[in-house]
Amino acid sequence: MASSSHALKGTVKAPGDKSISHRSLIFGAMAEGMTEIDGLLEGDDILATARAMAALGAKVEKIGQGHWKVTGKGRLQSPFDKIDCGNAGTGVRLLMGAVAGYPVEVTFDGDISLRKRPMKRVTGPLASMGARFEWKQNEDRLPVVVKGDQLSAIEFEQPVASAQVKSAILLAGLNAEGTTRIIEPEKSRDHTERMLTAFGAEVDVQEVGEGWVISLEGGQTLYGTKVSVPGDPSSAAFPLAAALIVPGSDVTVEGVMLNPLRAALFDTWVDMGADITISNRRMAGGEEVGDVTARYSQLKGIVVPEMRAAAMIDEYPILAATAAFAEGQTVMRGIGEMRVKESDRIALMTAGLRACGVQVEEEPEGFIVTGGPVKGGATVDTAHDHRIAMSHLVLGLAAEHPVAVRDPEMIATSFPGFVSLMNGLGARIG
Ligand code: S3P
Repeated sequence: MASSSHALKGTVKAPGDKSISHRSLIFGAMAEGMTEIDGLLEGDDILATARAMAALGAKVEKIGQGHWKVTGKGRLQSPFDKIDCGNAGTGVRLLMGAVAGYPVEVTFDGDISLRKRPMKRVTGPLASMGARFEWKQNEDRLPVVVKGDQLSAIEFEQPVASAQVKSAILLAGLNAEGTTRIIEPEKSRDHTERMLTAFGAEVDVQEVGEGWVISLEGGQTLYGTKVSVPGDPSSAAFPLAAALIVPGSDVTVEGVMLNPLRAALFDTWVDMGADITISNRRMAGGEEVGDVTARYSQLKGIVVPEMRAAAMIDEYPILAATAAFAEGQTVMRGIGEMRVKESDRIALMTAGLRACGVQVEEEPEGFIVTGGPVKGGATVDTAHDHRIAMSHLVLGLAAEHPVAVRDPEMIATSFPGFVSLMNGLGARIG
């Protein structure tokens, strides 16, 4: 439960980026030799991927806090048991692509939320490359058995910008015959392309209009490398949001990744009148990072440019929570993808905010939040979604009455230590 707080003040470090943490373990296990990772996010999603890579034949060792070693054999092997990816869509979708090009048989499963999420967006293209899939209960839903095989490269045009789909195809393409080509009319996060290059692969990227074409030759070997995981902008968003809405606050989150395909929330908040400054810009782990400071601000509603959707798709829940305190309407459209995340995030945020007394109009592909004083005083359903839980807890810090959330344990999938970090800044979450 989160209760109305005094000003939040202080400096904290962002937890390791979830997307890069998954990839460092998966690529490390596919590679020949040792990969040394520091700053790994030790959230439940990532720990599930670490167990998966060990089950698929790599040696995975924790050396210290956030410091891991993965020793790969340059191939993956069939596990003895099914692979449980927990809550992690990124984990399971990338892994299906990773195993598809090896002669293995792997059953993938997940928790109640992951079992509801569509998988055909990944298995469709992988099947056209030659992998086979056996659905255990429902078409398009986990659990599924993946039978890897000799693959042929494909050319695939993405109907929606999805880095998970792109990454699964690229990982399969590493072991396919021919050149795999992905056309993205709208760019999605490019961690896979950047990291595969660091693991020694050749990936060609050509900008075309607003998007790009990514090509990769089959038959390439990855080689172990060092990965330094930058801070996760999607997690940094929560303490920064709290600072924006709790009067008198001044919070800095250090080491936040500023990849333009991930950091569009900060631009959006600035457009809403937020006092946000970024200092100490530097390179870490092949990505630009910086220290982001947010101070309490009287926000004003805006129409969020739809062009930004892919670069802040995970951030709309917390954006909506801050929009509840803005003057006027914040219009968020072109975000139908939110409905197939860890939960239907448009429906869940609409219901949660309304329960807290906020005016929200739900649309098929978006929602409009009208700001004003927020009553709170509700217990909100999160449908096992970490970001829905954290967004409402942050909202509760500036609401008139406390806000409680159901299934708060899911927060540990992406942000272990969230409550103590927030309370260390002065928040009242208990
Ligand atoms: C991710 C891609 C995004 C994002 C997810 C992480 C990734 O999903 O929502 O949290 O690491 O590739 P989509 O690729 O489905 O948009």
